[in-house]
Parts: sequence; structure tokens; C-alpha cells
Amino acid sequence: MALRDVLLDELRDMYSAENQLVKALPKLAKGAQSPKLKQLFTGHLQETKGQVERLKKVFAELGEKPTGQHCNGMEGVIEEGKDALEKDEESASFDSGLIGAALRTEHYEIAGYEVCISMATTLAMPNVAKLLSSNLKEELAAAAKITTAGIPLMKQSAQEPDEQKKPKTGKEKYSAKKSREDEAKAAPDLNTSTV
Ligand SMILES: [Fe+2]
Repeated sequence: MALRDVLLDELRDMYSAENQLVKALPKLAKGAQSPKLKQLFTGHLQETKGQVERLKKVFAELGEKPTGQHCNGMEGVIEEGKDALEKDEESASFDSGLIGAALRTEHYEIAGYEVCISMATTLAMPNVAKLLSSNLKEELAAAAKITTAGIPLMKQSAQEPDEQKKPKTGKEKYSAKKSREDEAKAAPDLNTSTV
């Protein structure tokens, strides 16, 4: 069954994504300045460990091994989180950047679990769909908690003075150059002219 193979690839991607998050979440928790945000990331780390275990059960159910595919998408999203951790901003402004990074990881996972559940349901695998739905439920709850925690932090950040602009790092310069390249590559396909 071709769809079973596609599902296995997706599941291995999720397994890699969750394992990558087990390594990344303590760094976000350590970096967060607000105790509330620290606590959220630490709490979600425990949930994430449980999600890895649930995914192992999914693979046991399917009689397959969980490894075999590295999730490049999550690697990229975590890389953006590292950028957020390197920002010079202070207190609530710094944390506001972390909120963006953390929400990206959650929504990436939400998309992954949603498609896996659709496939498992199509393949009449209720046990697999049920285990994956438990993970999805936790991701949705985590995203909602992060969004809610962000509201007071962003209000506070809006009151904080601008940081003095520091010279761009090599990494930032490279990123700016790539963004101009992105724009230039898209330009022929866009009807709008850049000002
Ligand atoms: Fe997760």
C-alpha cells in the first residue's frame, strides 16, 4: 500500500522532529527571561518526551522502526529559534522573539500530526490515529498557552525602549543578503514593482 509508505515517512519525520525538540526546548527554557515562559517550555519538554514515547508505540503497532528519516523542516525551525536566542533584545522584547520561534515549532508539528492522522484514518488504523491525536491535542494546547503567555509580554515589550543598534554580525549580513536574493528571484513572477 503506497499510502502506508507515505505515512511511515511522515511518522519518521515526526519522530525526528520530536527528538530534535527534546534537545532544543531546554535551550529555549534557559534563554527565556520570564519565569512563566520558562515554566511553559519546561512543561512542554516533559510532554514532548511523552510524545516520543507515544510515537514509539505507533511504530510498535505498525511493526516498524522509528528511525530512518531526519526532519529538515524542524532543523530549520530550531535554527530560527537559535537566532532568536542570539538577539540583543532585553526582557519582554527578547521573550517576544522566543514566542515567535516556539509557536513555529508547534505549528510545524500540528501540520505534521494532522496529515498523519488523516492518513491513518484513511488506512483504517484507529489505534495509530488515537495515539497521534493525543500528541496533536497536546501541541494545540501548547500553542494556545504560548500565544496567551505572549500577550502580557508583548504589551510590556511595547513599553520598552529601543535597543541601541549594534553593527550587524556576519550571520545577520548573510541573512540580509539572502533575503535580497529571495526578493530578486521572485520579482519576475510578481506583477508588483518594488519601490
Ligand atoms: Fe511535540
